[in-house]
Amino acid sequence: MVDIDRLIAVTAGPHGWWRRPRAAAFLFLFAGCAGLTSACLAEDEDAEQRTYVGTEVCSACHAVTAEHWKNTVHARAFIGAPRNENEKKTCEACHGPGSAHLRDPGQADGITRFSFGSVTGIAEQNDACLDCHRGGARLHWSGSVHERNEVACSDCHNPMARLSTNGLMAKTSLNETCFQCHKTIRAEFQRRSHMPLPEGKLTCIDCHNPHGSVTEPLLKTDTVNETCYQCHAEKRGPFLFEHAPVQDSCLNCHSPHGSNHDKLLVTARPVLCQQCHSSVGHMNDLLTRANLANGSWPDPRAIGRSCQNCHAQIHGSNHPSGARFHR
Ligand code: HEC
Ligand code: HEC
Ligand code: HEC
Ligand code: HEC
Ligand code: HEC
Ligand code: HEC
Ligand code: HEC
Ligand code: HEC
Ligand code: HEC
Ligand code: HEC
Repeated sequence: MVDIDRLIAVTAGPHGWWRRPRAAAFLFLFAGCAGLTSACLAEDEDAEQRTYVGTEVCSACHAVTAEHWKNTVHARAFIGAPRNENEKKTCEACHGPGSAHLRDPGQADGITRFSFGSVTGIAEQNDACLDCHRGGARLHWSGSVHERNEVACSDCHNPMARLSTNGLMAKTSLNETCFQCHKTIRAEFQRRSHMPLPEGKLTCIDCHNPHGSVTEPLLKTDTVNETCYQCHAEKRGPFLFEHAPVQDSCLNCHSPHGSNHDKLLVTARPVLCQQCHSSVGHMNDLLTRANLANGSWPDPRAIGRSCQNCHAQIHGSNHPSGARFHR
């Protein structure tokens, strides 16, 4: 005779072996499968003939996974307030009908698998999510650089557990999620002058829409400047005297992530300005050793804020005599 109490104690404890899918599968198939669902008994099944079996059945084998999943927004929505028949399918809303998987859990294509290296194609995986999440922020997903490069929703999102405070991210934070693949961008944010992203004041999605957009490279707004104006509104103007390169693009002078030059500048002053402005028409001569910062008669263009010692309002001026951005 089997001692039922003892079997339960051994198998269902916190470290009980029934919490592992393989062991549970054994127990399940040989002890109660037929009683729980007739799907277990179905033989030759095509993908079209697969049927839904319900969360309880999945949880019987994937107990720990199911327990973690309960803390996510999907569980709250699907169990607490399902809006339609699809959401009521819980696990199977994403993983597809489970009957074939029950018969043979080892069959690679028995169920939709999202894990890395799965035999389920990336497009098919993403379609499972897009069934409910098409449109909105993902209006331009189709054809986006991430979609074209076979990035899966599950590279950035892990719906199986609550690892991040928002957004079901695959890592503990949004930025870490992006850094998995964008290592050079991580390095840019380590530079001497950088946007305060590592300090937690902004995230990649303040400027980018990772799901796709009409502006390269995945910018949230129509132009680079619109992106920057979201926070640096005073740079928008309108100005009585505009500085053409500022109106054109902030990136003429700034790198967006970080730079080893002051104030995220693409290059040091005065070279920055001299890329476009020659010294013609200016009271000056070429910078010689004598007029460098430590020379005998230092030139104001070479010390401190360089050209900006005089041309201080470089982003534009509203002063009646600010045509040269002096004030
Ligand atoms: C009879 C026990 C059993 C039941 C019931 C069961 N599974 Fe599984 N499942 C397993 C086993 C064992 C594996 C591991 C097989 C492998 O590694 O190939 C597995 C693997 C998986 C995987 C792939 C894991 C990976 O690493 O990619 C997914 C997804 C999955 N199951 C989902 C479900 C869902 C959804 C249900 C309910 C419809 C379910 N399972 C019901 C036993 C079960
Ligand atoms: C919102 C869609 C969604 C729902 C609902 C969902 N899953 Fe998953 N599942 C995924 C994705 C995406 C992954 C891949 C996660 C990753 O990248 O590691 C996954 C991975 C898994 C895995 C393999 C990795 C692991 O964490 O063990 C198992 C097993 C699994 N799911 C079972 C279940 C079960 C059981 C349920 C219901 C209790 C469920 N899933 C509900 C989307 C979903
Ligand atoms: C059956 C419909 C359905 C499917 C399939 C589905 N979701 Fe969801 N998802 C929802 C609902 C409902 C919510 C709750 C928020 C809401 O009201 O929109 C949600 C919320 C989310 C959120 C927001 C989380 C947050 O904290 O705000 C993310 C991210 C998400 N889903 C990703 C995914 C991914 C990735 C997949 C595929 C693996 C997926 N979803 C599959 C219905 C679905
Ligand atoms: C390159 C990374 C990345 C990929 C790939 C990705 N997402 Fe997201 N997703 C994000 C980030 C970042 C957020 C914002 C999370 C936050 O607000 O904290 C987000 C938010 C969401 C949200 C909640 C907010 C909203 O827009 O409604 C849903 C739903 C969502 N993603 C679904 C998907 C689906 C479906 C796919 C696959 C087609 C996908 N995501 C692919 C990074 C990604
Ligand atoms: C799974 C890997 C992966 C993850 C995670 C990922 N990306 Fe990407 N991303 C790529 C690939 C691959 C490309 C296309 C090749 C390239 O240009 O580097 C790309 C391209 C981009 C581009 C456009 C580059 C261009 O030149 O057009 C931006 C912007 C971007 N990703 C932002 C993000 C953000 C923001 C996140 C986090 C929410 C993120 N990525 C997460 C793989 C990833
Ligand atoms: C302050 C706004 C802003 C933030 C925050 C930001 N980006 Fe960008 N990013 C931009 C702009 C603007 C460009 C266009 C640069 C260009 O065209 O030279 C860009 C370009 C890119 C590119 C493609 C060009 C390249 O340099 O390879 C990638 C990839 C990228 N960003 C990823 C990220 C990731 C990942 C994060 C978060 C860790 C992030 N960005 C945060 C504004 C931002
Ligand atoms: C989500 C808000 C946000 C967006 C969008 C944004 N910034 Fe910033 N920016 C900040 C914050 C916060 C600081 C830090 C201010 C401080 O420390 O006083 C900053 C600082 C700067 C600085 C000064 C750095 C220094 O060393 O003082 C420059 C230059 C700058 N941003 C340029 C840009 C450009 C160019 C863009 C568009 C590509 C942009 N910003 C978009 C929030 C933003
Ligand atoms: C012609 C080159 C140039 C262009 C184009 C430019 N900037 Fe600047 N920006 C500078 C210089 C030089 C500094 C350093 C000023 C200083 O040292 O006082 C600076 C400083 C800043 C600062 C930090 C100090 C401050 O004034 O708040 C911010 C923020 C900033 N720029 C944002 C922007 C934005 C947003 C754009 C696009 C609308 C932009 N810049 C376009 C040259 C430029
Ligand atoms: C990308 C090229 C570019 C860069 C870099 C640049 N400028 Fe300009 N700047 C222009 C253009 C174009 C005009 C408009 C000339 C015109 O209207 O004739 C202008 C106008 C000016 C004017 C007004 C001159 C006039 O004739 O009205 C001053 C002063 C000036 N820039 C100073 C600077 C300083 C200082 C820097 C460095 C911080 C700088 N510029 C960087 C392109 C640039
Ligand atoms: C000591 C103060 C001072 C410094 C430093 C300075 N400028 Fe000027 N700059 C002026 C004054 C004053 C004028 C106006 C001359 C006029 O209106 O005739 C001027 C005019 C200009 C003009 C307009 C020329 C024209 O033809 O009307 C440009 C462009 C310019 N400066 C660029 C620069 C650049 C680039 C630097 C840095 C290499 C620089 N300035 C450094 C004081 C300065």
